[in-house]
Amino acid sequence: MPTASRIDEVRNDLTDLAEAVANAHELMQAMVKMLHERMLKYNWVGFYMLEPGASPPMLVLDAFEGATTPHTRIPLNQGICGAAASSGQTVVVDDVSRDPRYLACSLETRSEIVVPVFVHGKVVGELDIDSHFAAAFTCEHQDLVQYCAKLVAEKLETARTLNVKPGTLNHES
Ligand code: SME
Repeated sequence: MPTASRIDEVRNDLTDLAEAVANAHELMQAMVKMLHERMLKYNWVGFYMLEPGASPPMLVLDAFEGATTPHTRIPLNQGICGAAASSGQTVVVDDVSRDPRYLACSLETRSEIVVPVFVHGKVVGELDIDSHFAAAFTCEHQDLVQYCAKLVAEKLETARTLNVKPGTLNHES
C-alpha cells in the first residue's frame, strides 16, 4: 500500500480510537500499539510525560511499544526529548548519529521525531518515535505524529476542564 493511503487509513482509525476510549491514558496505550504495529518504520513509539511538580522538570516514560529503553527519566536539558519539551517545538532528526543531543536507546535507530503535547498552552509531555530507517519522518509523517499528539492533548484537556482529580480519569491513573 502506498505510504500516503496507509497514513490516511491510520489517521482515520486513530480518530475512531480517540472517540472509543475512556481516557487519555487508554488512548496513549492503544495509540502506541497501533502506530508500532501499522507504521512499518515506527520501530519504537512512546510517550514521555512531565512529572507533576518535579524540580528540576523531568520527563518520565509512560506508555510505549518497542525495545526496553534505559532512558526512563530525562531532564529537559538532555536528549532530543529534552529539546522538544523545553522548546515546545517538534524536533525531527534525520540522522541521529550526527546530532550530539541524541540519547541512544537502540543501536539500530537511525532517525527520530519528538512532538510535544500541549494542554491549555503548556507542554505536559511528548510523543517520541524512533526508526531504524534514516530520514523516516517526512512531512506526511510529521503531520500524522502531530495529529496523534493533538488527540491526546484533547483528551487531557477534557479531563482537566472537567476538574477530574488526579489518579481517577486522566493519564495519571
Ligand atoms: N533518543 C531520545 C531518548 C529516548 S529513547 O530514544 C526511547 C533522546 O535523544 O532524547
